Amino acid sequence: MTATVSGPDASPTPATPPTRTSPLTTALAQLSSAVELLGYDDGVHQMLATPRRELHVAVPLRRDDGRIELLAGYRVQHNISRGPGKGGLRYAPGVDIEEVRALAMWMTWKCAVVELPYGGAKGGVAIDPRGYSPAELERVTRRYTSEILPFIGPERDIMAPDVGTTEQTMSWVMDTYSVNSGYTIPAVVTGKPLAVGGSLGRATATSRGVVHVTAAALADAGADLSEVTAAVQGFGKVGSHAARFLAEGGARVVAVSDQYGGVHAPDGLDLAALTAHVASTGSVVGFAGADPIGNAELLALDVDVLIPAAVEDVLDEDTARTVKARWVVEGANGPTTSGGDRVLAERGITVVPDILANAGGVVVSYFEWVQAQQAYWWTEREIEDRLEQRMRASYAAVAQRARADGISLRDAALVIGVRRVAEAHQLRGLYP
Ligand SMILES: NC(=O)c1ccc[n+]([C@@H]2O[C@H](COP(=O)([O-])OP(=O)(O)OC[C@H]3O[C@@H](n4cnc5c(N)ncnc54)[C@H](O)[C@@H]3O)[C@@H](O)[C@H]2O)c1
Repeated sequence: MTATVSGPDASPTPATPPTRTSPLTTALAQLSSAVELLGYDDGVHQMLATPRRELHVAVPLRRDDGRIELLAGYRVQHNISRGPGKGGLRYAPGVDIEEVRALAMWMTWKCAVVELPYGGAKGGVAIDPRGYSPAELERVTRRYTSEILPFIGPERDIMAPDVGTTEQTMSWVMDTYSVNSGYTIPAVVTGKPLAVGGSLGRATATSRGVVHVTAAALADAGADLSEVTAAVQGFGKVGSHAARFLAEGGARVVAVSDQYGGVHAPDGLDLAALTAHVASTGSVVGFAGADPIGNAELLALDVDVLIPAAVEDVLDEDTARTVKARWVVEGANGPTTSGGDRVLAERGITVVPDILANAGGVVVSYFEWVQAQQAYWWTEREIEDRLEQRMRASYAAVAQRARADGISLRDAALVIGVRRVAEAHQLRGLYP
């Protein structure tokens, strides 16, 4: 890359640097590492580090009891050089602009790593959805969507579920957008129910992808799913199905957790019974037939494969020292801090990075968007086969880059993703 940006702002940090240790600190450190490996100059670095567009919106909510509450919402389009923005919508109490920026940046590299014609975006509302009725959540979603309406669309920016949001949330976004346009536009969101143009296989795609790359990483070391034990942190949309698919592949899943605590059964968990328990109680805690275990203990379990599939920053320098697993496969976005990454590498633990490991969701989101645009839906077999092929090919390319350059899988994935985005910038040129 030869393009340069000169002037007072030409530093390798975004216009607004992170104010604290946060997912954004991690995302920017990862980008710096890739930029150094690629030998790009400061101007290109800053262009890649800085979100193209950010929208901060106030979301006034009328509570069921008549009170008014004001929530903060965000949508960030980190990069749109390779196609429309793509990324989830998160409802969580701690959502802020820095977290959304980090998640949007990871989406950019992720879509590039698995060769989807998308940029990266993310949205969020600072709300704990457990404290609100379905009617209140519908009003929040419709108002948030209305506020960001000119920013989104099948050719602009496409949402999907993330932490705290569901297929139902996507239906409300799709309906609000469609009503305002005067006709039905299913391709404005992915991860929506089948009845309104969703795709077969989308609900489980992230988890299937996690297990495909886990199997590929094991095979690289001469191991097989049927020989390993595993622990999964997070029993939501990603973690619950990942645990199931690991078990179906022959792995012994000995522990899972959620935000309330975890459960441990050294001989393997009965996942069907556990899923029924979660459906009736809302948590894995209290499941009979397993011992209670804390989240910190779960991360330190003596298992072969550890899958963090909950939230960011759980594997920092301290917790990384306690990890006994040989493979860490990142189902969550940003579960490992830069310090944690360094410690895991020093200890010889293989980390399959988030931008590769959890890309199965956005791969099938892409399939859903293609199907919706063509109004022609594929069979489950077609979707599962194409997903597996895309995940295994992406893993193979990343592993090959890592071997060739003597770098970690994370750096290899970043180098591949960042280079594709930088190439798009260079080929398109700088307007005007
Ligand atoms: N849903 C997708 O398709 C998708 C795709 C790619 C990446 N991801 C990432 O995967 C992660 C999980 O997303 P999800 O969609 O499964 O969300 P979810 O809301 O369905 O589930 C989150 C799970 O994590 C648990 N959790 C929350 N805080 C925790 C904590 N501090 N410690 C332990 N567990 C905690 C929750 O109890 C829940 O079981 C997020 O990082 C998300 O960005 C999701």
